Amino acid sequence: MRYSLQAGGKRLRPVLVLAAAELFDAEQRVDPIPAAVAVECIHTYSLIHDDLPCMDNDDLRRGRPTCHRAFDEPTALLAGDALLTHAFFLLCDAYAAQPSLAVALCRELAAAAGSRHLIGGQMLDLLGERSAVVTDAMLRQIHAGKTAAMIRASLVLGGLIGGAPPPALAGLRDGGACLGLAFQIMDDILDATGDAATLGKTPGKDAKAGKATFVSLHGLEASRRMAEEQSTAASRAFRSLPGDTTFLLGLVHYLTTRTH
Ligand code: IPE
Ligand code: IPE
Ligand code: MG
Ligand code: MG
Ligand code: MG
Repeated sequence: MRYSLQAGGKRLRPVLVLAAAELFDAEQRVDPIPAAVAVECIHTYSLIHDDLPCMDNDDLRRGRPTCHRAFDEPTALLAGDALLTHAFFLLCDAYAAQPSLAVALCRELAAAAGSRHLIGGQMLDLLGERSAVVTDAMLRQIHAGKTAAMIRASLVLGGLIGGAPPPALAGLRDGGACLGLAFQIMDDILDATGDAATLGKTPGKDAKAGKATFVSLHGLEASRRMAEEQSTAASRAFRSLPGDTTFLLGLVHYLTTRTH
């Protein structure tokens, strides 16, 4: 668990929790850090399992051998299971004094990490390897599930902790969905164009595995344009939020120009 969690990574999702919480003046200041850590625990578990031989079969993650390479498959499986469970322990434990907030956070995170989103997206991603035709609509559904849902949930968790009113939560949700899609389109582009030293993971794996990606379906140039479109839509949604959105908007820009 520590090996994979402390390997680094961009920490995008926890940063989104903190950035969203900061936008609002909660009546009572609530610490967003446990929620940020919970989100990173789920993300890291999803990477450990994503890398297993029965999934994407990857040897390199965050610049290090993948968990199952450094240890073994059963250990990697259990490390992922434990990180998933620990995320919900953290939320229940840290926000116990505000039971309705704790429930809202657990509900949001469980929905994003569950069969209708993260897991459903991962299942469709695997089915896509074997499917003769994957349409643009199917691909968007894969990306919305496996990646965008957790990015969106990170923003919503921050909003809930900050005491965001319903219209602002809707803005975070809308912007998060677009940002999440832009993020996974960039991930597809980097898999096709990046190098292992910069990425910290093995490039070229998607084409080899016959994955349906934005690059395989639309080509590099159109994919770049689609990532731009989604990040513009994300910025539009975030501009409607109260508070100082400078950091969030800067982050959106960075994510469409990232190299890892
Ligand atoms: C990788 O996520 C998996 C995807 C959903 C694309 P990140 O690119 O955020 O990975 P880390 O956390 O920085 O290692
Ligand atoms: C992974 O998508 C999404 C999740 C882990 C939920 P990818 O399989 O494209 O991620 P990388 O490229 O291995 O990081
Ligand atoms: Mg995968
Ligand atoms: Mg993968
Ligand atoms: Mg990828």
